This record gives sequence, C-alpha cells and structure tokens, in this order.
Amino acid sequence: MDDLRGKVAVITGGASGIGLAVAKACAAQGMKLVLADIEQATLDGVAADFRAAGVEVLAQRVDVSDADAVEALAAVTFDTFGAAHLLMNNAGVVTGGKAWEQTLEDWNWVLGVDLWGVVYGVKSFVPRMLATGEPGHIVNTASIAGLLAMPGIAPYDVAKAGVVSLSECLHHDLRAVDSTIGVSVLCPGRVASRIGESDRNRPGGSANPTYRPGTDLPPTLLSAEHTADLVVDAVRTNRFWILTHDGYDEWLTKRAAGMLTGEASARPPVF
Ligand code: NAI
Repeated sequence: MDDLRGKVAVITGGASGIGLAVAKACAAQGMKLVLADIEQATLDGVAADFRAAGVEVLAQRVDVSDADAVEALAAVTFDTFGAAHLLMNNAGVVTGGKAWEQTLEDWNWVLGVDLWGVVYGVKSFVPRMLATGEPGHIVNTASIAGLLAMPGIAPYDVAKAGVVSLSECLHHDLRAVDSTIGVSVLCPGRVASRIGESDRNRPGGSANPTYRPGTDLPPTLLSAEHTADLVVDAVRTNRFWILTHDGYDEWLTKRAAGMLTGEASARPPVF
C-alpha cells in the first residue's frame, strides 16, 4: 500500500511507545488516525496533541482483551471513516518469572492482551476491510521472543509465537481469496518504551514483579521512532517480516538448523 495519504490507520496500544511512534509516522504521511488504548488519560493527551497539529484522529478507550470492545472499535471506525486501510494490532504487556511460577492470572492477562487482542482485531476488522475492497495492510506486533523463546517470560513467548503463526496464516488465507490486503509481523528486539512498566495496566494490580529487561544482551536499544520507520516502510513495500535487530541472526539460524537435527535451541540472549 504505497500511497498512504488520506488513508485511515488504526493502532492499538497507540498511546505509548511503538504504537505512538507509528501513529506519528502515519500522521506524517497524511493518514487519519484511530488510536485505541486502555489508558484513557494518556490517550486523551496524545489525541489532543495530534488534533492541535491538524491531524484527524478518533481516540477510543479499548481493552483489546475484550472481544466486544474491539468489535465496537471496528464499528466506530467504519461509521466514522468508512474504512480502515492500516490495522496495527500492537497493544502488549509482559510479566516475568519462571514458566511454572507465573500465576494463571499472569498467563491469562498476557495471553488475553498479546494474543487474543490480535485475534479479536483480525476477527472484527478483516471482514470489514475485505468488504470495502479498498487497499489495506495489517501489521501484527509480535517480538523476537515469538521466534526465539526467551527464558523468564513464558506467557509472552507463547503469545508472541501465536501472533507470528496467526500472521503467517492470515497472509496465506488472504492470498487464497485473492485479496490485495498485505500482512506484516513486527518482531523487534529491545525498543525504548514503557513495556517494562506493563503492570500499570494490569487489572487488579500486580501479582508478580514486572519483567525487567535482561542484562546479558549487548543489543542496541532501538528507538520507537526508528522502529516506526521500519513499519511504515514494510507497509509501503508489502514486506512480511519486520526484524529490527540483526544481533539475533545467529540464534535464528541455529534454531532452524537444530529443528532438522533434533537439538534443543541454544539459549538466546534475553532482551
Ligand atoms: P508500551 O508500554 O510503551 O506501549 C504499550 C501500549 O499498550 C500502552 O499504551 C498501553 O497502555 C497499551 N495497552 C496495554 N494493555 C492494553 C489493553 N489491554 N488494551 C489496549 N491497550 C493496552 O510498550 P511498547 O514496547 O510500545 O509495546 C508495544 C508492542 O511492542 C507490544 O505488543 C510489545 O509486546 C511489543 N514489543 C516491544 C518491545 C520492546 O522492547 N519495547 C520488543 C518486542 C515487542
């Protein structure tokens, strides 16, 4: 979808971090914005800033782990703008702890937001996008943790692996009906954002300590703005995989090779 001017971008988790940076990059391309986030006050502030800059924006408080709320977001988007050209299923949270120590509440919360949130986005938006026959693109935010299981964040790894798989399947399903809607899956390494403060949005408060980024990683902490540029470029060029950090190439290769020989994956550097 090369020509973005005047088109509509829907971004969940749009009030902070990567989502907000993509919103800014889309606005710079002349797109209209639909921003969805669970944090009402932050969302209101962000929307006011965009409006002051002359950007047309619809801001809706949405908990993406609630199917009805995502359906209502799709309905208001199409009622207001008549289309959604770019859908970015991006809202996400993370918890920390050994796989067996994380509580069922941890698992439910992370899978609810990070995986079911994407499923609901696909279910509510894709039929409407197909019905308009307009150009479209879907970006699902996974993580490098969806490709290389990182120790200490099992629910997150599981959710993000699911998002990778869903995105690949969605790509194939859209091709099977001859749709021109493109799909990308964003698999970043560490990006500067508020993901390490995920507990701020946890219903009922914190049970386990919030995940803190690992220290065994050399890697670059990428800016959200640079990540957003990669996303917009992928939308324009219809690129499926958006991997942001080449520091993981060796582990990705080792993992693929290990599958063929039966060896367990090498422990990746934790981000
Ligand atoms: P962030 O915390 O700055 O932004 C996440 C946004 O999602 C926040 O505005 C938050 O209010 C919103 N949100 C949380 N729960 C929600 C819910 N139930 N419904 C709707 N909105 C909700 O963090 P960041 O890093 O910008 O996260 C964006 C995505 O990027 C997430 O899916 C995250 O897993 C992914 N990611 C981030 C990486 C990083 O290093 N920052 C690396 C790999 C992936």
